[in-house]
Amino acid sequence: MAVAVAVVTDRWDGLLLAPRLVTLDGDAGYGLIDDGALAWRDGVFVHVGRRDALPGAPEALAAQVIEVDGCVTPGLIDCHTHLVFAGERAGEFEQRLQGASYEAIAQAGGGIVSSVRAVRAADEDTLLAQSLVRARALLGDGATTLEIKSGYGLDFDNERKMLRVARRIGEMLGITVRTTFLGAHALPPEFAGRADAYIDAVCDWLPRLYAEGLVDAVDAFAETIGFSPAQTRRVFETARRLGLPVKLHADQLSDGAGAALVAEFGGLSADHVEHTSASGVAAMAAAGTVAVLLPGAFHVLRETRLPPLDAFRAAGVAMAVATDCNPGTSPLLSLRQGMQLACTHFRLTPEDALRGATVHAARALGLHDRGRLVVGQRADFACWRISHPAELGYWLGGSLLAMACAAGRRLI
Ligand code: NIG
Ligand code: FE
Repeated sequence: MAVAVAVVTDRWDGLLLAPRLVTLDGDAGYGLIDDGALAWRDGVFVHVGRRDALPGAPEALAAQVIEVDGCVTPGLIDCHTHLVFAGERAGEFEQRLQGASYEAIAQAGGGIVSSVRAVRAADEDTLLAQSLVRARALLGDGATTLEIKSGYGLDFDNERKMLRVARRIGEMLGITVRTTFLGAHALPPEFAGRADAYIDAVCDWLPRLYAEGLVDAVDAFAETIGFSPAQTRRVFETARRLGLPVKLHADQLSDGAGAALVAEFGGLSADHVEHTSASGVAAMAAAGTVAVLLPGAFHVLRETRLPPLDAFRAAGVAMAVATDCNPGTSPLLSLRQGMQLACTHFRLTPEDALRGATVHAARALGLHDRGRLVVGQRADFACWRISHPAELGYWLGGSLLAMACAAGRRLI
């Protein structure tokens, strides 16, 4: 009797058998295990290896045995999204196709501020319903962790509403959502000509939102059409007093020394970074700040200036890849598609793109418990109808995801 009880309690919750595991174990390579077996208990991997090395018959080892075709990767981690918003901005896209620039549209009262009007007009449940569609689309192509920013509310109640919606998405979908406060995204019309006073307000809201458990990190848009280095610094100092990590929309449209600034604060990531200078790269390397590449915005804005990819590589700066899912510059609803764009536009290898959307993306969020198929990590994984992992950076579109789990629980 005692032996029987021991066997039952030792059983794994789940065991997945697959032709190919893409573990990403180690610093380089896919970490392939062919004819693999992956097991978890209490939401954490407890066995990763070859099927023929299992210590017994699969059915005796686990409460649930699943056999899939294709490749299994760590669940994708989308470390930069603005997916909570209302409405869309397809009209602006048309204007840009006719020659208007992103900056000119913003200066004329469109751009981010037009999404602010839509978010303010939507009640929390409406905002949730519209945003859930996008979160589900990202999950439907392999994401199992999402970062979601505020930044279309730009007043206390509406920033709070956005962050509450982000938290509710995590609860409803059964995934980790990391929330980022981006109050310093744009100047709302009621503060026109008073950017410093607006930053005072942002620095006042942040501790209150944090006290409600709504903030995991802090971001800002440091740009000529955003906020100055001095204003960004004040936001970061407020974050530091609260012990909150920072990240930054840095050097997207011009070199504003944003990468060096966020590195100075030991930031998790500098994002976009198309115009980052050599000194910015060096500062990021010294601080361990991840470069988050956002090829969707690059693609949609028809940018030509590439991030300093070789300099990042030479300096050992980790490069993550994310969707930047937002209504203005990157209406991108698939991180796998983002990986393809990173390969095409930035010449990342498919392996680098996959590491960028898993291992390095986890780091860009300060999460150390996921990103690889390794014993002890969270059982977040995605099963794909492909025979080689390079296909994830290769196919455009299609329906490749067969199954996905977060902490061992089935999402798809
Ligand atoms: O990451 N650059 C600032 N923020 C977003 C765009 C937001 C918008 O246009 O709505 C970005 O590209
Ligand atoms: Fe962004």
